[in-house]
Amino acid sequence: MPRSVSSNTISPLSANRQALALLTPSHRRAALIEDGCIDLLGGKDPTGSHPGQRLMLSSVLPRIYERLWRPLGARMLMGPAGPRTSEEHRLALDMLALSPGERVLDLACGPGNFTRGFARAVGDDGLVVGVDASKTMLARAVWETDSPNAVYVRGDARVLPFRDGVFDAICCFAALYLIDEPMSALDEIARLLAPGGRVALLSSCNRGPLPAGPTSAVVRTLTGVRIFGRDELTGALRERGLTDVDRRVAGLAQFVSARKRA
Ligand SMILES: C[S@@+](CC[C@H](N)C(=O)[O-])C[C@H]1O[C@@H](n2cnc3c(N)ncnc32)[C@H](O)[C@@H]1O
Repeated sequence: MPRSVSSNTISPLSANRQALALLTPSHRRAALIEDGCIDLLGGKDPTGSHPGQRLMLSSVLPRIYERLWRPLGARMLMGPAGPRTSEEHRLALDMLALSPGERVLDLACGPGNFTRGFARAVGDDGLVVGVDASKTMLARAVWETDSPNAVYVRGDARVLPFRDGVFDAICCFAALYLIDEPMSALDEIARLLAPGGRVALLSSCNRGPLPAGPTSAVVRTLTGVRIFGRDELTGALRERGLTDVDRRVAGLAQFVSARKRA
């Protein structure tokens, strides 16, 4: 049964305790448990000002996101031959190569649509932390999730509250293109991965005849979505010391995986 959303509903205590133990001491002191998740933003809102970015804060979108918005958006981004939702889930699990007992960060987790599968993959001894900036997305995630090893944190992907090297795997799907300063999010991903840790990204990829810069400027103005240059994300991961960088392009999307040196 999904958890109900009320201000007294919290993730199971032990998962919350484990997540709190991953925070830096100053963030631990500032953490508030509210509406079933650990809130580290309070009144702050790191979401950009474009209407396409602000949509993620609405109360309606989280209700239709997983079953309608996300599959439609994926088709538009990846084209008719791109992976279906179930294949995307399998791809994420393949790229992250999760084992029971591991700690996973699902960055910009939305309503927890991938978080729940990661929770099953790492089992009762593992922990999955879903981070998002949107209260409404997180409320839906809490409501949809019945795994005792999943916990949700309201935080900013550009400045994450966790100690260095605490995650074995980090997923960031369908979000880097919405985040202002996405390279700061990549800095954080590289910092938070444990030695040998794996990362999986799904984002946009420029395929057109024009260079990414002008294409992105136009698409971003219209939709709030940034278009990354073909080698921009893979190069950025290498610059941050990650190895085994791999990419699969599907339409205007790219799945990128990499590993931190053991
Ligand atoms: C399109 S959803 C992706 C959800 C899920 N990962 C998926 O693949 O379907 C993008 C999410 O990024 C979140 N987001 C945008 N900017 C953020 C930021 N600076 N920090 C944390 N989350 C952010 C939004 O709130 C939204 O829930």
